[in-house]
Amino acid sequence: MTWRLGDQGHSKGASRSRCDSSADRLSFASVSELVIHNARVMTCDPARRGLGVIDHGALAMSGNTIRWVGHTAERPRGDRELDAGGRLVTPGLIDCHTHAIFAGDRSEEFAMRAAGKSYLEIAGAGGGIAASLGPTRAATDEELIAALGRRLDTARAGGTTTIEVKTGYDLTVDGELRLLRCIAVASAARAQRVVPTLLAHVVPPELVVIRERFVGELCEQLIPRAAGDRLATSVDVYCDEGAFTLAETRAIFAAARTAGLAVRAHAGQFRDLGAAELLGEFAGRSADHLEHVSDTGIAALASTGTVAVMLPGACVQLRLPVPPIDRLRRAGVAMAVASDLNPGSSYCETLPIQMWLATTHFGMTVDEAWLGVTRHAARALGVGGGTITRGSRGDLIIWGCDDPAYVPYRYGAGTQLIDATFVAGERLAMALSPLPS
Ligand code: NIG
Ligand code: FE
Repeated sequence: MTWRLGDQGHSKGASRSRCDSSADRLSFASVSELVIHNARVMTCDPARRGLGVIDHGALAMSGNTIRWVGHTAERPRGDRELDAGGRLVTPGLIDCHTHAIFAGDRSEEFAMRAAGKSYLEIAGAGGGIAASLGPTRAATDEELIAALGRRLDTARAGGTTTIEVKTGYDLTVDGELRLLRCIAVASAARAQRVVPTLLAHVVPPELVVIRERFVGELCEQLIPRAAGDRLATSVDVYCDEGAFTLAETRAIFAAARTAGLAVRAHAGQFRDLGAAELLGEFAGRSADHLEHVSDTGIAALASTGTVAVMLPGACVQLRLPVPPIDRLRRAGVAMAVASDLNPGSSYCETLPIQMWLATTHFGMTVDEAWLGVTRHAARALGVGGGTITRGSRGDLIIWGCDDPAYVPYRYGAGTQLIDATFVAGERLAMALSPLPS
């Protein structure tokens, strides 16, 4: 069977509404070989240069796995063939830093910042992260799962096929475990891959005068229980002014390691406390934000292969200085780009907007922005994928364009630029759009 894009899809426009993950799933009766050909295949293969684009490329998938990648003229035969019409085919996008589970919103803080108040001033007056604790603690499991599910679906409609979700808006032992369980339920209901992270966000206001008790609970109860129940694969610590000190971060990292979990940190968003150096010591997976980081911190990240996760949406919204992209680049630190989806500093589910900010405001190249939402993001999460190579997961996007630069260039197009999405080899949505002339 041979199709062209649009054969079974929606016509552009009319029914292009947000896709419900179960309603728009088009399953196939049996596991068969699908060959996509006549494509510009962006492999992100580290064995190739740059983005590893294969012009007149093709790939074959069987089941949930990519089996073959090469030139159209050399492609194997498939039970089903899809002519991509010269379109760009990329790995599914990977958002490696989100705080997508919370209740309520903080739009009034957005207005306060627009009128001149800073994030730290608002947080010091009882707003910020603390303001999201009440609504999140009061929400039922069903409400949290539904709200998270809507955000996951919005992200997926924008091309995100793998997404990390951090806890951090309850900040009690039982409450944080509840958030992890809600993440597991929302994730089980969709094909998209969800990677759960336990976040030591801040000390909750009721415990600030006895903060060592909270750190003790985190290390002795929450982390071992989350690891024991396999509810999280890594622990992230917000090591910054107004959050955890370097000594506290060290203790939490040590507990995570003892429990067999990987470590990451929100590092130097407002002040450099030395988190990058500490991540080097613990061979952390990622250092996120990095608006403030020393040369020794950068050298530490480079020496352990720790990924620098750039969060341009939050940086721009809080009017922070741009992270030292050129110093990171020269040191050979791999950079990822993520949404930081959260109710305070970046309520944004989609990655092309972050790619646009990464290229226009941070000075990353188009190639760096793409690797940031594919291969490098996978590495920050310690998962496979993020490439179109033999053996990788069948997570793919077919875009309504042929130039990698077109995606961040048309940052407002959202779902309109996506012609087809495959998650684990399964086609979730397909529509036709003319290639830009
Ligand atoms: O990554 N910096 C810490 N955490 C979030 C903000 C969370 C919030 O304001 O609710 C961030 O920007
Ligand atoms: Fe964050």
